[in-house]
Amino acid sequence: MTTKPVNHFLDLPDIPAETLKAILANAQTLKAHKFNPPQLFEGLSLAMVFDKRSTRTRMSFEVAMKQLGGHTIVMNMEEMQISGAESIEDTAQVLSRFVDGIMIRMSSHETLVELSKYTTIPVINGLTDWSHPCQIMADLLTVEEKKSRIEGLKVAWFGDFNNVMRSWAQAASVWNFDLVCAVPEPLMKDEPFQNVSFTQDAMLAAKDADVIVTDTWVSMGQEGKSISIFDPYQVNTDLMAQAQDDAIFMHCMPIHRGEEVTNEVLASPASVIYDEAENRLHAQKAILAWCLENSGVKIQEGEKINEY
Ligand code: CP
Ligand code: NVA
Repeated sequence: MTTKPVNHFLDLPDIPAETLKAILANAQTLKAHKFNPPQLFEGLSLAMVFDKRSTRTRMSFEVAMKQLGGHTIVMNMEEMQISGAESIEDTAQVLSRFVDGIMIRMSSHETLVELSKYTTIPVINGLTDWSHPCQIMADLLTVEEKKSRIEGLKVAWFGDFNNVMRSWAQAASVWNFDLVCAVPEPLMKDEPFQNVSFTQDAMLAAKDADVIVTDTWVSMGQEGKSISIFDPYQVNTDLMAQAQDDAIFMHCMPIHRGEEVTNEVLASPASVIYDEAENRLHAQKAILAWCLENSGVKIQEGEKINEY
């Protein structure tokens, strides 16, 4: 008998494209079942560990586990022994004996990866300084709903070269869309992506775009940084006017109104931010279903869930 590998959800490039697409398809299926959720996670527990603030990630994972019959334990990382008194390995080994999966939000992606090497249960990246893959699954679910496709679209990103931008850039080759990133020159990084281009001309980036995306200019942990460099990258009505007439505006939230995006854009019909936030819940369910499949997740009869 061969042992199946643990399904960690750490960073999009770690996971085969077909698996990512199947997870997204399952998110649609699970959303369609939102009023009769299959009890996939009966008897299973998820530990949720945070060393940064969160509203959407914490709520969506918690509700996802509970609606599908599971349990959650939320821990503040600074109250755990790992913050000073215990090794990553010991924490990983012990948590593996108590729960069926770990969702963790922490600054260091390297530490997240190290933790995953010692666990015998799946680890899910709930955001690191490097990437935010769960967010992008929800974002793509939203794009598919609003535009009926993802492939071939032009997505334009404005502002910081950050964790959320990196996950969008990693997704571009998987779903075969074009991503144009308008990022200030001093913040550019030499990273290879496919289907991704960079510019300092925000108006050019927005031209004929189907999807306009931005994020805070000051990510968690960067408080106090100067933001004047971002002024030309604000999403406002002039910038939206460059995009397709039916372009949508997306933001992972939390939003700093009047900085990266104006209230006018947020109040316009183009804004899909609350649908995007809701989709964190449906995407989380599908990510958890894939991660926990070796932990006893059983597909209920009559619930057609894609195979990975
Ligand atoms: N978008 C997102 O991850 O939100 P939270 O920081 O509230 O979890
Ligand atoms: N880039 C932001 C995303 C928040 C969900 C941050 O890291 O704070």
